[in-house]
Amino acid sequence: MSDELRVQGMDVYYGASQILFGIDLAVERGATVALLGRNGAGKSTTFKAIAGVAPPRAGRVFMREQDITGFAPYRIARRGIGYVPEDRQVFPEHSVEDNLRIGAKPGTDGAVHWTLERIFEVFPILSSMRGRMAGRLSGGEQQMLTIARTLMGNPDVILLDEPSEGLAPIIVQQIARLIATLRKEGVTILLAEQNMHFCIAVATSVAIIDKGQIVYRGSIEELKHNDDIKRRYLAV
Ligand SMILES: Nc1ncnc2c1ncn2[C@@H]1O[C@H](COP(=O)(O)OP(=O)(O)O)[C@@H](O)[C@H]1O
Ligand SMILES: [Mg+2]
Repeated sequence: MSDELRVQGMDVYYGASQILFGIDLAVERGATVALLGRNGAGKSTTFKAIAGVAPPRAGRVFMREQDITGFAPYRIARRGIGYVPEDRQVFPEHSVEDNLRIGAKPGTDGAVHWTLERIFEVFPILSSMRGRMAGRLSGGEQQMLTIARTLMGNPDVILLDEPSEGLAPIIVQQIARLIATLRKEGVTILLAEQNMHFCIAVATSVAIIDKGQIVYRGSIEELKHNDDIKRRYLAV
């Protein structure tokens, strides 16, 4: 089995307070794994730890079997991890196209799968806005731009932190369709979400996090029929 990304026994602290307890996660090549959990469960902290923004105090992070634990964020990015944080950081005074160009780099194998042309095919809405200042886009459009900019770095794995958060239902549907398209493109995705319905639509498997610990792991099909787990750990 080829895991693209693997996290083993990861503990993370903010100062003296422990936030994550022995997190284990594996994301196979081409999979879309959802990290589901309520607000405050530890999803963003897990992503920050993988991306090197909040380095773990214990445990290991492997990217294609290479140990990248404790690496600086830019080195982790160069190992093929694309990180889309929850606060959608676009460069507001720059055009959509410039925002995309800023993210451009070849992949770990030196190949460029995601060119501007490919991005505009997959994100037609961005194509029609390519000259617009990013700061003038709607929340949903900024979310798409942030995802697109990260893809311009040709990552092997993309970490999407709550892409549906704060968006209107119709935009959430668009983002879900986009993620399904990325999956068909072969992008490996780790997705943090509170919204189980969103995950059911796009993910292949799920890990539920609660109070900094993984409490459930299974296929989306299994989760759909497990009312007890849904009641206990998710706001459904
Ligand atoms: N910078 C920080 N300093 C201290 N505690 C934090 C910080 N960021 C988050 N926390 C705490 O860590 C826990 C997990 O937060 P977070 O990972 O953001 O959860 P989620 O993304 O699942 O909502 C919460 O209890 C939160 O209050
Ligand atoms: Mg979060």
